[in-house]
Amino acid sequence: MKALILVGGFGTRLRPLTLSVPKPLVDFANKPMILHQIEALKAIGVTEVVLAINYQPKIMQNFLKEFEKKLDLKITCSQETEPLGTAGPLALARDVLRDDSGEPFFVLNSDVICDYPLKEMIEFHKSHGGEASIMVTKVDEPSKYGVVVMEEVTGRVEKFVEKPKVFVGNKINAGIYLLNPSVLDRIQLRPTSIEKEVFPCIAAEKKLHAMVLPGFWMDIGQPRDYIKGLRLYLDSLRKKSSPDLAVGRHILGNVLLDESAVIGDGCLIGPDVAIGPGCVIESGVRLSRCSIMRGVRIKKHACISSSIVGWHSTVGRWARVENMSILGEDVHVGDEVYSNGGVVLPHKDIQSSILEPEIVM
Ligand code: GDD
Ligand code: MG
Repeated sequence: MKALILVGGFGTRLRPLTLSVPKPLVDFANKPMILHQIEALKAIGVTEVVLAINYQPKIMQNFLKEFEKKLDLKITCSQETEPLGTAGPLALARDVLRDDSGEPFFVLNSDVICDYPLKEMIEFHKSHGGEASIMVTKVDEPSKYGVVVMEEVTGRVEKFVEKPKVFVGNKINAGIYLLNPSVLDRIQLRPTSIEKEVFPCIAAEKKLHAMVLPGFWMDIGQPRDYIKGLRLYLDSLRKKSSPDLAVGRHILGNVLLDESAVIGDGCLIGPDVAIGPGCVIESGVRLSRCSIMRGVRIKKHACISSSIVGWHSTVGRWARVENMSILGEDVHVGDEVYSNGGVVLPHKDIQSSILEPEIVM
């Protein structure tokens, strides 16, 4: 079985992290976002993954070479010369996706995180016999997503409306599809939106079916949702009694702690924290609801909450970083500095406090 992951888009909503790496390579819960998906695909027997890319192809290719070997899976890149949207990339990879087996293939948005119930999705797809299956989930704010109106009992989709201006329903497209090869015949090689141009047509022919996704789901393409997604992801690990969650007297709630990270005396870490490889958390530090990426040093008595600290940054002694502060790669926050929602571009030195949420260039 094959799969295509939509990896394009500039990830502007996740800047400054995406100034250093393409969005799919931004770490989430201590590994690049896209690895969560590739591993889930591999687990259900997918043998080839096509990454539909439209920018920074070299960085992606180098990264993938490493993981192709580790995961024993064929990973190829399909590179666009202009952004082809969410459907055009399928036309570009047509020859790979359509093989002699005639099997359906998966398509995934690269920025969604969930338990990936892909086995269940294959069963669902076989059971309804339609042309395409999509996963849906309920959200409070449907206007940011593609909304799906479906027949409750059969799952047949009656209507698909991308980013509706008026309320149509609260079940939304979760960005995970299983498509028959015949869907490829509906897509031309030009910038096209699968949500606006392809799904509404298949739905009109009554061949689009939706399965309600069991468990949690989040599009982590925006800082606030990223932090919320981390909480949901860690909750889900807890429900599965995952051995990956940290234990210890300085740990509160759900915490992911890379084994190479060093934690000083008298810290209090958690809930909902991920600490990446090589991090040094000095004594007396308080961390909650935050992601601390690879190689970061947090100095004594600093306090970080609801924030993301990018790769190889440092946070000074008695500093306080909170309220959706996002520090890019290699940012250095001085001693006693306060950041209230500061979004700091890579390689900056911050020596005076950021009192209101703002972008620091
Ligand atoms: N290759 C390629 N080329 N990929 C692209 C392009 C492109 O031109 N444009 C966007 N993508 C990729 C993005 O990287 C992402 O993985 C996926 O397509 C969806 O794009 P987003 O920009 O993240 O869209 P969204 O979050 O606003 O909405 C989409 O996702 C929602 C769920 O998270 C839609 O599919 C909605 O219907 C859906 O509800
Ligand atoms: Mg998105």
